[in-house]
Amino acid sequence: MEAIKESVIALAHTPQYRMHKYFARRPYNVFSNLIEYYTKPNDIVYDCFCGGGVTIFESLKNGRKAVGVDLNPLSTMITETQIFTKNLDELKTALDIFLNIVRDKCEKYYSFEKNGLKGKIIWTEWVYTVKCPECGNIIELTELNKISNGIFKCSNKNCSCKSGFERFKSQFVGIRPIKAKIKDELGNIQVVEIDNIDEVLPYKAEIDEMKSKTQYDCLLPLDDMDRQKEDKLKERGITKYSDLFTARNFVLSCIVFDEILKLKNRFEKWIIDYIYLSFSSTLRYVNNMTRVTENWENGNPTSMDKHAFWFPNQFVENNIVCILEKRINAVVNGCEFSKRILSVEKKKCSKFEDLVNSDFMILNQSSDNVPFPDKSVNMVITDPPYGSNVQYAELSIIWNHWLNFYRNTKKDFLSDKEAVVHRRLDTDKKKTVTTYKNMLTKIFGECNRVLKDDGFLVFTFNNKNMNVWLAMLKGVSDSGFE
Ligand SMILES: C[S@@+](CC[C@H](N)C(=O)[O-])C[C@H]1O[C@@H](n2cnc3c(N)ncnc32)[C@H](O)[C@@H]1O
Ligand SMILES: [Zn+2]
Repeated sequence: MEAIKESVIALAHTPQYRMHKYFARRPYNVFSNLIEYYTKPNDIVYDCFCGGGVTIFESLKNGRKAVGVDLNPLSTMITETQIFTKNLDELKTALDIFLNIVRDKCEKYYSFEKNGLKGKIIWTEWVYTVKCPECGNIIELTELNKISNGIFKCSNKNCSCKSGFERFKSQFVGIRPIKAKIKDELGNIQVVEIDNIDEVLPYKAEIDEMKSKTQYDCLLPLDDMDRQKEDKLKERGITKYSDLFTARNFVLSCIVFDEILKLKNRFEKWIIDYIYLSFSSTLRYVNNMTRVTENWENGNPTSMDKHAFWFPNQFVENNIVCILEKRINAVVNGCEFSKRILSVEKKKCSKFEDLVNSDFMILNQSSDNVPFPDKSVNMVITDPPYGSNVQYAELSIIWNHWLNFYRNTKKDFLSDKEAVVHRRLDTDKKKTVTTYKNMLTKIFGECNRVLKDDGFLVFTFNNKNMNVWLAMLKGVSDSGFE
């Protein structure tokens, strides 16, 4: 078979890929092109690292059958929900009902009142506070108090730390509100300065009480996380899942989640899955990794846009209800687009032999040992993890935490089988370029076994590190591919 000669310019994601974030989603048109070029209608396309589900959707769009496997529960949840061929009006009605319930339960917690100005908070800007290690003074980590990266000045004139103190040597104290974006009762929007926490958090006592009673919290597996070393979560006072959010946004997430569970008696399972998807899709925007700067994105908050747990010293707490309104819109648009593009119902199956009478199958497991017969798929098209570029499982904790409660599972957030390289971790759980290469060898070995004799493996790969490239190529050649 001849290689593709023309280059393809990547296009932006279409609406079904904008329903929910996934890390490192590939451009759809590049994959659609590969599928059209290398396979025929009704062929079986297999993606052993299906991630954000691009290969799977594009295969179905092009009239192929598709099999996707991924270790990350978030990935398979997203991949499945992107394939929408159900009744859109029924879904819209249910999402409306859900949104009204959420408004009813949550809106009051974002109410605002100061000097006669009444309204609702769209977002609140907070700043972290720490104790000066020399004199114990409480210092806000604002840009104004910053001397250089990680070094802050103490406001106590008599303090001995004249050239500033190191942020990570100081004790974490809490957060203080500095600004809020308010929509007043007439619908006018303005940003106001905040002097007192009561102005933006009128129900603080109730929220703290609810947080102390919740069953939805857990410790993060920080000692086994590469990103802990790099992002210094413990040093920032983050040890539990709830610490990734303000108390208000964590408690309201719990309330919204409980409302979803109650709806299980009212709607069919597939509808609840899309309600859950819209909730899950808000989590990226309502955690403390959101920030706002006047000269960036027109002063609108940007959220979790790095492949890291990057907590700005000054962050924005978005109103969950406002975000949910937007995410529900994104879900409706995505489903509408998906249904239009796929045009006919796509049937899902859970056993490989049932693919004859269905269109696709998605498995949430490691692809080093898959339950498919030898020589059964026509083509493997995939995009493996690129060494240490993205710690998928660690970063996905934001979403997989809730998925465990939603599905009543107790899946570990991290897996020995994830094919990634750690940069900083130095425990016995560390993944080296060698462990990465060995896992790729096993996975590509399985691809080789399930591929038909005339089948191909096509993959994309992007990494600046030569050793990672070599590991990747060695993995392919050691697994028996010619
Ligand atoms: C680069 S992403 C794939 C992105 C995808 N091509 C897309 O367009 O969205 C790589 C995926 O490999 C998955 N992965 C890592 N180790 C795995 C394993 N042992 N078995 C299955 N999937 C694995 C990760 O969870 C991640 O979703
Ligand atoms: Zn001091």
